Amino acid sequence: MSYNQDILSGQGEFIFPAVRPLYDKPLVLKEGQGVRVRDVAGREYLDLFAGILTTSVGHCNPKVVARMSEQLAKLGHTSTLYVTEAQVEAAGLLASIAPGQLSQTFFTNSGTEAIESAIQMAFVHTGRSEVIGLRQSYHGRSFMTSNLTAVGSWRPLATSFPGIKHVQTPYPYRCPYKQPCDESCSEKFAMDIEDVIRTTTNGEPAAFIAEPVMGVGGYIVPPKGYFERAAEIIRSYGGLFISDEVQSGFGRSGDHWFGIEHSGVEPDIMVMAKGIANGAPVGAMTTRPEIAESWTAKTISTFGGNPISMAAASATMEVMIEENVPQRASEQGSQLLAGLRKLQNHFDWIGDVRGRGLMLGLELVENGEKKKPFPAKASGLLAACKEEGLLVGIGGLHDHVIRLGPSLLVTPSEIEEGLEKFGRACHKLEGR
Ligand SMILES: Cc1ncc(COP(=O)(O)O)c(C=O)c1O
Repeated sequence: MSYNQDILSGQGEFIFPAVRPLYDKPLVLKEGQGVRVRDVAGREYLDLFAGILTTSVGHCNPKVVARMSEQLAKLGHTSTLYVTEAQVEAAGLLASIAPGQLSQTFFTNSGTEAIESAIQMAFVHTGRSEVIGLRQSYHGRSFMTSNLTAVGSWRPLATSFPGIKHVQTPYPYRCPYKQPCDESCSEKFAMDIEDVIRTTTNGEPAAFIAEPVMGVGGYIVPPKGYFERAAEIIRSYGGLFISDEVQSGFGRSGDHWFGIEHSGVEPDIMVMAKGIANGAPVGAMTTRPEIAESWTAKTISTFGGNPISMAAASATMEVMIEENVPQRASEQGSQLLAGLRKLQNHFDWIGDVRGRGLMLGLELVENGEKKKPFPAKASGLLAACKEEGLLVGIGGLHDHVIRLGPSLLVTPSEIEEGLEKFGRACHKLEGR
């Protein structure tokens, strides 16, 4: 048996079967640098998915590696019972780029935990216990957050967590009001929030939570004006606006540090993870001091705010600031978007190309105008990209949306190379 097969049989024997790696023949990765990764057989791939938008400044970024190694050799663990410079520094950097008055942070080990903390924070602050989310959203894998998630295949239980309500997805490509969907549809989508509050809650919601660009849902960007109206509505009922920036944060959406800033809405609570520490396990919930101070019960995290993770977060944010990643994501994102749109003209099964900055998706459909989701084509394209030495991701309600989200330091020539590989993979699929 080969080394590769040994590892795969180990995976089958010792890892939960619900953990399903991509591809029929999963990829066993061994090393990475920048936007390149290598498998155990030494084959190189151009990584335009960055471990789900997480290696934000490239695999094994030398500045992040150096800072983490330095911290590991000095002090590796304290728990939140002790104060560390590493944690204070990371929180200060985050406050320096967070919108408006958002300045106090609670660090966790994952996005799931940070979302849990944000919902708890909203319940504690408002004294209420109902939350409104979007259908097709993804917010995590715990009991509460998998219930807040509204993509059926990611919900393991029929049992519902109390107090969670879902509203209509503001999904322009599948807008039921008007095609092409535009700003005028925002009011109609937003009215569903009011309707759900009036009909299915006691009229006192604690919060509305949304991803500014819906990640797992397939990089759905709501029509202009939607978040402004959503914020007005939730606040008119006394609730808070929570922005889930786990995917869209840290310049990823282009031009701004956080996805919600495209709308001009200042969230009451913001949640981050993934790209914040280039792959080290860090989640964060950030809010205004007057909200943070209403949490008076004791709270602790053994690993949250761990000095090594915090060193990774600070080094990652410093690189992001030095490199002005919001601008880079905007420029390289436009280049990638233009290339993908050109391909759309050649293949009628590419129904929609969309997204923001360096989070771009292609929705694949079987029959043009009728827009029937085409998951078989998407899995075929994923595999064809792999054959070309290119890594991309998948998403959407039916696993029919191809997702791209490379390191924010990706260069124009790497984007060009990625587009060539992607184009060849699309051509290979014609007639298959
Ligand atoms: C928008 C969003 N929120 C929350 C999460 C949960 O993060 P984690 O996987 O770190 O628990 C994810 C993970 O994909 C996500 O995409």
